[in-house]
Amino acid sequence: MQPKPFLKWVGGKTQLLRQMSHFFPSELKHDTIKTYIEPFVGGGAVFLYLANTYNIENFIISDINPELVIAYKTIQRDVEDLILRLEQIENKYLSLQSTEREKYFYQVRWQFNWLRNQIDLQNYNLEWIERTAQMIFLNRTCFNGLFRVNSTGDFNVPIGRYSRPKICNAENLRSVAQVLQKTHVYQGDFSTCTKFINNNTFVYLDPPYKPISKTSNFTSYSQHIFDDREQLRLRDFFKLLDTKDVKLLLSNSDITNQDSKDNFFENAYSDYRIERVKANRNINSDTSKRKSINEILIMNY
Ligand SMILES: C[S@@+](CC[C@H](N)C(=O)[O-])C[C@H]1O[C@@H](n2cnc3c(N)ncnc32)[C@H](O)[C@@H]1O
Repeated sequence: MQPKPFLKWVGGKTQLLRQMSHFFPSELKHDTIKTYIEPFVGGGAVFLYLANTYNIENFIISDINPELVIAYKTIQRDVEDLILRLEQIENKYLSLQSTEREKYFYQVRWQFNWLRNQIDLQNYNLEWIERTAQMIFLNRTCFNGLFRVNSTGDFNVPIGRYSRPKICNAENLRSVAQVLQKTHVYQGDFSTCTKFINNNTFVYLDPPYKPISKTSNFTSYSQHIFDDREQLRLRDFFKLLDTKDVKLLLSNSDITNQDSKDNFFENAYSDYRIERVKANRNINSDTSKRKSINEILIMNY
């Protein structure tokens, strides 16, 4: 079974994989890429696709969000216990009426936030199984499936309206766990991935989007703000990696869709190849405002 993201994640690339695949380095087809690094892994759509499609020996994935890393590590180490717990939660939730479901959702949300300061978020321990189950449950049942935290780090998305949410997809979790057996997962800033690079490496960078409008603030996946200064820090990092003979691909939202005169990416990446693909991104909670917008791809090959 083709593994797919086990969390719905803002900026997820599932809808874009087909268009993006034309721009992956051709060395993948010739099995000459041995290491794949994705330092903004999020839901991992590209990582899981590549792992299932090509013969890459090592995978390194990381993200600044510790909750996400906890989830990946739990699936890597204890997928069967996680499945058991998620099945219990799913059976319980689906047996409840709507007012009871609401009560249950907010109880889990409260506990998830409260536990953050009680448990060890750095070193693997069995409490991570319950935490990952709670995170998957909240992600599957919350409004729009967004993982959003407020300035104090609390998950604050309200309940969504799904009659039979699929909380436990055991088969997919097992497929993801299999890929994770050949993957190194860690928490950290994107700049820390340099130590894993060799000259048979492909690095895919998918940072939080540069907002396409002044009112959209969907870049906050965590307490860390990814503003223009951060986008430029990443550009400098891209340039640094480019000196190391690695294949680099970076994606972002195409801001020229909104403002045709905004040349931020053209200026920042003037030395590199820039392409555009169409994305249908559901970031706007108002469905009438959802529209197809372009995604920008920047490559050093
Ligand atoms: C656009 S999302 C990635 C989406 C992903 N490619 C997918 O398919 O789901 C960006 C990710 O960058 C992470 N992030 C934000 N700032 C970061 C930083 N300084 N270093 C590493 N990761 C960061 C966020 O936690 C988020 O998961």
